[in-house]
Amino acid sequence: MDVDDVETIAVLGAGNMGHGIAEVAALAGFEVHMRDINEEFVQKGYDQIEWSLGKLAEKDQISEADADAALERVSAVVPVEDAVADADLIIEAVPEKMDIKKDVYAEVEAHAPDEAVFASNTSSLSITELSEVTEREARFCGMHFFNPPVRMQLVEVISGAHTDEETLSLVEDVAERMGKTPVRVRKDSPGFIVNRVLVPLMNEAAWLVHEGEATIEEVDSTTKYDLGLPMGSFELADQVGIDVGVHVLEYMHEVLGDAYEPCPLLTEKVENEDLGKKTGAGFYDYEDGGADVPS
Ligand code: 3HC
Repeated sequence: MDVDDVETIAVLGAGNMGHGIAEVAALAGFEVHMRDINEEFVQKGYDQIEWSLGKLAEKDQISEADADAALERVSAVVPVEDAVADADLIIEAVPEKMDIKKDVYAEVEAHAPDEAVFASNTSSLSITELSEVTEREARFCGMHFFNPPVRMQLVEVISGAHTDEETLSLVEDVAERMGKTPVRVRKDSPGFIVNRVLVPLMNEAAWLVHEGEATIEEVDSTTKYDLGLPMGSFELADQVGIDVGVHVLEYMHEVLGDAYEPCPLLTEKVENEDLGKKTGAGFYDYEDGGADVPS
């Protein structure tokens, strides 16, 4: 299969990443079936796509007609078989837990066409291990987008131990068709490249504050203005979801060792369900849609 054979993409999960990936795929002209486990979740994802396309049109980054056409290409579905039965590429973006992802792949395998390629948007988990619950280890790779997908240029394309070259090239071509820049990750190690660098930065920032050595504002001003990153470490944690950062750290901690132990400042936010922008509060408040004072 080459990129011109890809007409329909199924995106599993309509959360922060799933709806963003569905939007990017629809803007690139693919038919998109976005799936989540209930009507409420899938409708919320659909509404967020509509909001985002509206924003892009309002800022003349796309035309109103292109926004409408992209939205037309997205169908929001709940039954797995409706999402994957005619899909050429299936991008999974469900929560960052090995067991949840494995269950999803086992269910999807029963309904997906034999030739369909599976790509996981996992932030850190082993592509090899995930591929081994399917019957298509060679046609399985990582396709890791960054938050927010519609704004971020990079896509990591990760090879598992069994992935074949045709699959990697196809997924890189799809990423390019979406206007993204794919980078191939040859080694399937926890966090791949970006999160191996970025998530420990968030964790170290949290330890500094937890140990009373700096305030959130001090850390964020240095990462933003001295290191030149577009967001401070705590702003970034709120952007990606503190729960996502913690899941990545837990996996790195388990596989790579104690240096990656998640800071309690992060895990407490997760326990309180203050997950960042998506819940309206994390290290900052977002009641009005923008960053307020640290909470
Ligand atoms: N769709 C459309 N518009 C959006 C949007 C979206 N999804 N998200 C935000 N916007 C809009 C906002 O509503 C706001 O609109 P307004 O101007 O009308 O108020 C505007 O975009 C925000 O634009 P700003 O001018 O304030 O900000 P910038 O345009 O300068 O940049 C950014 C925003 C691209 C998010 C930038 O801050 C950035 O690059 N941040 C870093 C993000 C990053 O590093 N992401 C990767 C994290 S790691 C990851 O995701 C991996 C995972 O596995 C953990």
